[in-house]
Amino acid sequence: MMDTLKFVFFSAFLSVTLTLVNAEDPYIFNEWKVTYGTISPLGVPQQVILINGKFPGPVINCTSNNNILVNVFNNLDEPFLLTWNGVQHRKNSWVDGTPATMCPIQPGTNFTYKFQVKDQIGTYYYFPTTALHRAAGGIGVLQVHSRPLIPVPFDNPADEFAVVVGDWFKKGHKSMKNLLDGGNSIGRPDGLHINGKSAQVGAPAEPSWTFEAGKIYRFRFCNAGMRTSVNFRFQGHDMKLVELEGSHLMQNDYMSMDLHVGQCMSVLVAADQPPKDYYLVVTSRFTKTLLTTVATIRYTGGNGPASPELPPPPPENTAGVAWSINQFRTFRWNLTASAARPNPQGSYHYGQINITRTMKFVNSRNYIDGKLRFALNGVSHKDPPTPLKLSEYFGLAEKEFKYNLIPDEPPPEVEKNCKVAPNVLNATFRNFVEIIFENRENTIQSYHLDGYSFFAVAIEPGRWSPEKRKNYNLEDAVSRHTVPVFPGCWAAVMTTLDNAGMWSLRSEMWERFYLGQQLYFSVLSPEKSLRDEYNLPETSLLCGVVSNLPRPAPYV
Ligand SMILES: *[C@@H]1O[C@H](CO)[C@@H](O)[C@H](O)[C@H]1NC(C)=O
Ligand SMILES: *[C@@H]1O[C@H](CO)[C@@H](O)[C@H](O)[C@H]1NC(C)=O
Ligand SMILES: *[C@@H]1O[C@H](CO)[C@@H](O)[C@H](O)[C@H]1NC(C)=O
Ligand SMILES: *[C@@H]1O[C@H](CO)[C@@H](O)[C@H](O)[C@H]1NC(C)=O
Ligand SMILES: *[C@@H]1O[C@H](CO)[C@@H](O)[C@H](O)[C@H]1NC(C)=O
Repeated sequence: MMDTLKFVFFSAFLSVTLTLVNAEDPYIFNEWKVTYGTISPLGVPQQVILINGKFPGPVINCTSNNNILVNVFNNLDEPFLLTWNGVQHRKNSWVDGTPATMCPIQPGTNFTYKFQVKDQIGTYYYFPTTALHRAAGGIGVLQVHSRPLIPVPFDNPADEFAVVVGDWFKKGHKSMKNLLDGGNSIGRPDGLHINGKSAQVGAPAEPSWTFEAGKIYRFRFCNAGMRTSVNFRFQGHDMKLVELEGSHLMQNDYMSMDLHVGQCMSVLVAADQPPKDYYLVVTSRFTKTLLTTVATIRYTGGNGPASPELPPPPPENTAGVAWSINQFRTFRWNLTASAARPNPQGSYHYGQINITRTMKFVNSRNYIDGKLRFALNGVSHKDPPTPLKLSEYFGLAEKEFKYNLIPDEPPPEVEKNCKVAPNVLNATFRNFVEIIFENRENTIQSYHLDGYSFFAVAIEPGRWSPEKRKNYNLEDAVSRHTVPVFPGCWAAVMTTLDNAGMWSLRSEMWERFYLGQQLYFSVLSPEKSLRDEYNLPETSLLCGVVSNLPRPAPYV
C-alpha cells in the first residue's frame, strides 16, 4: 500500500517511546494529508474532506498490539481532529481525539498520533470530531487482525473489503454547522453512499468488487453516516456474521443486516452463485422516504448484468423495530473463540460481578430560547474552550467546569428542563457499572462509549425498572462499544471502568452529538501512577487556559 509504510523497530527506539508503547511490537507509520477536494458521493460534484486524496480515507490495516503512528497534516482552513471509534487507547485518553481530550491541529500544521491497538481485534473507523467535518468526510476504516498464532474462528477469506456506508447531504459542512449553531436541524439526508459512490439500479456501473467462484470474502462494513440507520444485503447471497465491533460471534447466516450509525461488523460472503453481476443493496431504516443505493459485484468470467429486482428491505415502523430488536438478540458472543480479551479484568463471567453503580440516562430534545438542543438527564453538553482532560490534569478543573451536574437517575420532567454546560461525571476507577439508556422519543438512538467495550445485555420496549434485570443476557452478550436504542425502548450495558482517562459517552448521531447529547466520564486512578495512566505525551498540543503553563510533574 502506497500510504502505509510498515517499519519494524527493535531495541534502538526504546528509550523514547517506552512510556507509550511496548517496544517489541511492530510500528505502522502513516502520513496523511487532509485537504478539501471535489468528488460526487451522490452523483453531483461537491466539496469533500479527503485524506491523501481519497474518500473514504486510507484503510489502516494492522494486527493487535501494533503501534500505530499517524502524522496528520491539516491542510484545511479550520482546526481539525480525528477520533478512532472503538479503539480503546488503554491508559491513553490523550490521543482519543475528542474535544475534551485534545487540542485541535491548527490549519497548516501537522501532528502525530501515537497509539497501540492493545489486545483488540476487529473493525473500527476514524472520523473528524471538529466543527461538522464528519458531514464532509475524513472518514475511513481501521481493521485489526489477530496475531499470527491466535486462532480465528473461521478460515482465512480469499480477500477482505472495507466498506464505509452512510447517509449524505448535498449541503456543505459549513452551512450544516451554521444551521445547528442557529438552533435548527440539519434536516434529512439527500441520499446514501457506499464508499463515496452512489449508483442506482440499471445504471451501468464499474464493479466495486470482484469474486472468483468458489471463494469466500470478508466485507467489513461501517456506518459512518450522520444520523441514518441502514440495512444492507446482497442479491442471491447470504451473509455469515462473524465479527461485531471487536468481538467474534456465534456465526449465523442472515439475508439482510441492520447497521446503526457508528457500528461496524464483518460478514463472510461465499461466491457460490452462477457467475454474473450482483448488487450489494443499502437502504435507509426508519426514515420517512426510503433511500436506496447499490454497488456492483462481478464474478470473474461471469456474463450478464445484475438483475433489476432487489431483495426487499425489512419492515418499517413498529414491525420494523421488532424485526431489528429480534436481530439484535441473535447476536451472541462466541465464548470459546480465543479473541483478544475485552478488558484486563477478563469479565468473561460479567454476569457474576456485583454492580457498584447504576446510571440511567434519558435523552431529550429541547428548545432553549427557541433553539434546538439535545440533552442527557437534563444537561446539554457544551465543550469549554480548554479540553476538559487538560484543565483537570493541570489542576484547573474547579475553575473550568463542574463535575456531576446530572444525577444517576433522570430528574422528573427531564424532557421539559434542560441547561447547557459541560457534562462530566466522576467515576470510580474499576467500578463495575450498569448503564441504562432510556429513549422516550420516537426516533432511534445510537450510543457509543470511548475507552471501553461493554456487554450489551438487553434491549426492550417501554421503561426500565430494576425488575427488568431478570431479562438480561448474563451469559453471552456481545462485548461491543455501540448500542442502538429504538424509539420508546431502553437498552442496558455493563462494563468495568478500568481504563483511566476522560472518555466520551455520546450519541453517534452527529446532529445530536453536536447539540449536546453526550457526556464525559472522568475516570481517575486514585494513585497517580504510570501503571494506570500514561503521562500527557510531550508532543501533545496545549491550548486555552493551559497554553503557556508548565507541565505538571509526570506520574512515575
Ligand atoms: C492486511 O493485513 C493482513 C494481516 O497482516 C494481510 O493478510 C492482508 O493482506 C492485509 N491487507 C491489505 C489490503 O493490505
Ligand atoms: C510534522 O511532520 C514532520 C515531517 O514528517 C515530522 O518530522 C514532525 O515530527 C511532525 N510534527 C509533529 C508535531 O508531529
Ligand atoms: C466458536 O469458536 C470456536 C473456536 O474458534 C469455533 O470452533 C466455533 O465454530 C465457533 N462457533 C460458532 C457457532 O461460530
Ligand atoms: C455480591 O454481593 C453479594 C450480596 O451482597 C455478596 O454475598 C457477594 O459476596 C458479592 N460478590 C462479590 C464477588 O463481591
Ligand atoms: C471529581 O474528581 C476531581 C479530580 O480528582 C476532584 O477534584 C473532585 O473533587 C471530584 N468531584 C466530585 C464531585 O467527586
